Amino acid sequence: VARTKKKPERRITIKDIAQEAGVSLGTVSHVITGKMPVRPEMRRKVVEAIRQLGYQPSLLARGLRRNKTSIIGMVIPDITNPFFPAVVRGVEDVAFQNSFRLVLCNTDNDPEKEESYLRELHSYRMAGLILIPSVSSQISTLVDLEFQDVPVICLDRRPEDWTGESVTVDNVQGAFEATNYLIKLGHRSIAMITGSLHLTNAVGRLEGFRRAMRKAKLDVEQEYIQEGRFDRISGYDKMRILLQHRPRPTAVFCGNDLIALGVLSALREAGLRCPQDVSVVGFDDIELAELTDPSLTTVFQPGYQMGARGATLLIRRIRGTAEKNSQHMVLPTELKVRRSVAPLVFTHKPSRTTKSGSSD
Ligand code: RIB
Repeated sequence: VARTKKKPERRITIKDIAQEAGVSLGTVSHVITGKMPVRPEMRRKVVEAIRQLGYQPSLLARGLRRNKTSIIGMVIPDITNPFFPAVVRGVEDVAFQNSFRLVLCNTDNDPEKEESYLRELHSYRMAGLILIPSVSSQISTLVDLEFQDVPVICLDRRPEDWTGESVTVDNVQGAFEATNYLIKLGHRSIAMITGSLHLTNAVGRLEGFRRAMRKAKLDVEQEYIQEGRFDRISGYDKMRILLQHRPRPTAVFCGNDLIALGVLSALREAGLRCPQDVSVVGFDDIELAELTDPSLTTVFQPGYQMGARGATLLIRRIRGTAEKNSQHMVLPTELKVRRSVAPLVFTHKPSRTTKSGSSD
């Protein structure tokens, strides 16, 4: 039996679609890329031809031809931290509206993992890169030495040596207002548990705390400043340390909400009540902040807006319509007053004995 060799199917091109639909190549391309408006009846013809011919556009092939894709690479510390999804969502919505797609990577705050992701994304010819830098990020060096050909923007944390574009919040002011609120309610022994002080936003929040204390002429005992990481475990551990100090702080300002959640656990475990024994303030205003018991007073930072503004700046840079100088956008924060803070008069009970047996 003579074997008949199956002829390989010819790849459908946009020329075939244009012919089938009876429109120009440009119209087909505008429909496929979504980059230019196309009249509805023309669009219908093109879509119908695509369906008829079973056309599958290869974005990869297009990216290789142009040496650039329509994909934005986003590298963040950890999507399981409840603050970051809003930022990612803001980026994605703006990217989608502008016909860009998003690829997301988690660094676990590890600068080496961050660097290898950034290099790979760069080699895949991303249209632009968005980074929430890890602790000790090398982004400035990478951009100076290797990434001259791709726009990069930093969100949320702006490394000290970063001269490119960024969107952050006013960390100093947010922390100042939170601390001031505690002071106005009569608190004097106020502690702070910070995020890693290798991160500029953690340093900014500490600076805001110190400024408010200075303004009220209040001393900050060195032991009252505990450096944690932006996570629940370090909040718990550092609060246990603070509970050993005498006098015990009557209020704790936390570098973020996850730290505050850890603080609430440590208080509960020690048999102390929040806010009657210790007032607690967070930073971020994650969704959980409303659901804790008591609900958490915290500094809201507009994560979604941060992502959306960042993506807008980046896309302008990609399209060459951005301003000449790099933008550094600083968004305002807002104190959300809930139930985890009480005036000092109701909180300070010097003779109270904790579960661990220690007393004030
Ligand atoms: O919760 C995550 C924290 O790290 C936030 O406060 C945010 O600012 C990020 O840097």
